[in-house]
Amino acid sequence: MAQFRLDKLLADRTQFSRADIKKIIRSGAVTVDGTKVTDGGFKVDPDTQTVTCMGKQIRGGAHLYLVMNKPVGVISATEDRKQKTVIDLVPKEFRVKGLFPAGRLDADSTGLLLLTDDGELAHRMLSPKHHVPKCYLVRLARPYEDSYAERFAQGLTLSDGMQCLPAEICSLREHENYALVRVQEGKYHQVKRMLAAVGNHVEHLHRIAVGSYLLPPQLPPGACLEVFHKDVESMLNLCEMPVLRDRVVYDFSSYSINESQ
Ligand code: URA
Repeated sequence: MAQFRLDKLLADRTQFSRADIKKIIRSGAVTVDGTKVTDGGFKVDPDTQTVTCMGKQIRGGAHLYLVMNKPVGVISATEDRKQKTVIDLVPKEFRVKGLFPAGRLDADSTGLLLLTDDGELAHRMLSPKHHVPKCYLVRLARPYEDSYAERFAQGLTLSDGMQCLPAEICSLREHENYALVRVQEGKYHQVKRMLAAVGNHVEHLHRIAVGSYLLPPQLPPGACLEVFHKDVESMLNLCEMPVLRDRVVYDFSSYSINESQ
């Protein structure tokens, strides 16, 4: 049971500054288990007590985990002077301090992106040592060829001589210009460059899974969903590719890849 000062908890878990929070608490707009609290130093346990600020419930748990279906045209960064970032799309109630994208997708790529304020977990997910598997649905310029699977499994050499770790690719049966690709590392433009190395071209790329966690197909582009720590832990697990493919094929119509997303 972790106890926090009420003012610190609210400053960490809302978009307000510590100075604003002090005023808000003094104004009587904060409750703990239904009772108004006007002392910023009051100790609370957000896991077991219900805290509200200006009528909104404050999240329990130590960290925030948001799954986003990243749309086309936004960048995987916290701020940028020119371009819209994934953080700009996060609803105000989730704009906690220290929120950042744990990983990146190119501006023209779409799909699963985890946003969190949990640096330790993000480190485990992103560290090259951990080989967290990421799975992409790709639309190809030319039909999939069976020879790709062995070349991916052997570890491709990219045009600049960079060596890739073994990866997986499979067709999506009747959808001949689509493939499912799974990589265990995250080099710059990796999937696009891997497909270029076998003589094809990625027209669109949509991340559908990290580990065994699948992007909820009902999540619209640009929307976020709060998930639990245990969901995020499943992003570190491996899931057999045929199982993943079956689940994706099952939901294939929901994963409509479309530049207008
Ligand atoms: N590989 C790419 O080429 N682009 C992405 O956005 C992600 C993986």
